[in-house]
Order: sequence, then structure tokens, then C-alpha cells
Amino acid sequence: MKVAVIGAAGGIGQALALLLKNNLPAGSDLALYDIAPVTPGVAADLSHIPTPVSVVGFSGQDPTPALEGADVVLISAGVARKPGMDRADLFNVNAGIVKSLAEKIAVVCPKACVGIITNPVNTTVAIAADVLKKAGVYDKRRLFGVTTLDVIRSETFVGQLKGLDPTQLDVPVIGGHSGVTILPLLSQVKGVEFTSEEIASLTTRIQNAGTEVVEAKAGGGSATLSMGQAACRFGLSLVRALQGEANVVECAYVEGSGEHTRFFAQPVKLGTEGIEEVLDYGVLSEFERASLDDMLETLSGDIAKGEEFAK
Ligand code: NAD
Ligand code: LMR
Repeated sequence: MKVAVIGAAGGIGQALALLLKNNLPAGSDLALYDIAPVTPGVAADLSHIPTPVSVVGFSGQDPTPALEGADVVLISAGVARKPGMDRADLFNVNAGIVKSLAEKIAVVCPKACVGIITNPVNTTVAIAADVLKKAGVYDKRRLFGVTTLDVIRSETFVGQLKGLDPTQLDVPVIGGHSGVTILPLLSQVKGVEFTSEEIASLTTRIQNAGTEVVEAKAGGGSATLSMGQAACRFGLSLVRALQGEANVVECAYVEGSGEHTRFFAQPVKLGTEGIEEVLDYGVLSEFERASLDDMLETLSGDIAKGEEFAK
């Protein structure tokens, strides 16, 4: 497998590249690309880690050498939030970055599975989809908005609250990746009971967790290390499924049945071609049903903005 990390010199990119260098299956190739000139140096640095994963790095204006032959492309290229900003405030810069990267992917590695980390994810995924569509290569089984950070945060916060090992918890998160569109399905956490106060406060904390980090970093960016971990978990799941492992399930923001909105985060079963099946998210509690209804206008607006931009 060849995995390309785009935006690889950034906070997420470097953490993600380090984790992938250490955890990709033996024989994998890791390719790094960023406009920052340091990128070949990041690759040289990582190449001294003794794992059976090759690593090369490219900088400049052309991602082609990193994308050539890629099975998986993880994109974290773009600007991050500062305190007082919303993810939607990143649209002006990041929409163009994702658009031009998607145009390159359409030509160089149209069959790759693409995971978009760049915010606002609710919108950038719609841009990438429509750029790929315009180029005639869109396959909805191969495009993902990476929402795994919402999942790992949910597992962490539930574990903290209930004194449980977070690695043993499984918390699906549906909807999108910003504010009210992030909906953890706490009613589905096996073997754990919550009061309604706990559900309300945990849901709010999960929805605001990105802002929690942005404020704590005080102008120094947003989540990078936890996002590196989240993207690594998602990327490794994808690689395992592409290599034929059965029953690999992750939540991701994908184009599914369109029951609610064109793109929607929910559990997906991964397979050798990307998404094997978009899974039903199951029965919702009354609180979750109301939260889902409340988010749909926001989510539809975020998607429409991306579709409009891609035109
Ligand atoms: P960062 O500023 O540390 O790194 C971004 C990198 O992108 C930089 O190295 C920059 O040179 C590079 N870049 C810019 N334009 C590029 C282009 N055209 N091609 C290749 N590289 C390019 O930012 P970060 O903290 O790594 O965050 C990156 C993005 O990820 C932000 O948009 C942020 O909001 C988003 N993010 C998403 C999630 C999520 O859950 N999906 C979580 C955290 C952050
Ligand atoms: C996060 O959830 O941490 C990311 O989307 C970054 C941000 O701006 O909050």
C-alpha cells in the first residue's frame, strides 16, 4: 500500500506521518507532500526510524510525485483556526486548496481512497466530490471526511466520566464535523448508563472539543496530536480493509443514501474498494432524534456552500 499525506509538514501532517511510519504494515510506502520546503527533510528525519515502511517527501507546487500510485491519500493541507474563529471561517482559504488538490487527484490517482481532514470538513468534502465528479472519476465509495477525532474524543470523555478504559469503548458519532452537526450516540454505548444531565453536558463537550483545544493553544493552532492519532486510526483501518480484512468499521462523513443530507457521518463498513456498505446508525434516543433534526439545516447549508464553490 502507498499512503500519501498531503499537508505533511504541518502540525497534523507531521504527527500523522510519524504514526504511519511506525504503524503501517511492513512493505508499505509513505509519501509526504507539502508546499513547505522542509518536507523532504521531514521525510529524511522519519526515514531514520527503523520500521519496514519507506518514506519520501516532496515540496513545491506539484503534489504529483507523492500522489502517483497512491492507494490512500490523507489531506490535512490548509489553515487552522485561531481563538474566536469558527471552522466555516477557514472556507475562504481551504476551499481553494482542496479544490486544486482534488483536481490533481482526479488526474494522477483517480482510484485512490481520499480522506479529507481539512476544515470545514462538512464543506470541503462536497467540494472534492464535485471536482472529482466534473472530472468523471468520482466514486462515492472512495471519498471520506475524516471525523474520527469526534469518535476518539467521545471514547475518551465517556471513559473519564465513568472510570472506564476508553480503548474498550465504542461511541458512534453521526452528522458532520462542526458544532451542532457533531452528534455522539451515547445511547448506544454498550454497558454504560447516563443521566439526562450527563448526556446533555457530554454532548456539548464533544461538540465544543475542537474549540477547547483552539483556546488552550491560544493562537497556536488547533488539535494536531489527537488529530494525527485519529487520522492514523482511520488510515490504518482503510489500509487493512483495502488489503482484504473483513468487518472493518469506522464512522466517517460520506455520501450515503441521502436520507438526511447528501453527505452524512455514520458508521461505514470498509472493504477492498473503499466503502463496502454504509451502515444504519441504529435506534436513536429522543434527545438524539431531536438533535439530529436540529442539525440538518446547518449541515445542508454547509454542503450547499461546497457544491456552489465547486461549480
Ligand atoms: P498547519 O498549519 O499546522 O498545517 C497545514 C499545512 O498545510 C502547512 O504545513 C501548509 O504548508 C500546508 N499547506 C497549505 N497549502 C497547501 C497546499 N496547497 N498543498 C499542500 N500543503 C499545503 O495546520 P494543521 O493544524 O495541520 O491543520 C490542518 C487542517 O486540518 C486545518 O484546516 C484544520 O482546521 C484541520 N483539522 C481538521 C480536523 C478534523 O477533525 N477533521 C482536526 C484538526 C484540524
Ligand atoms: C477539531 O475538531 O479539533 C478540528 O476540527 C479543528 C478545529 O478547528 O476545531
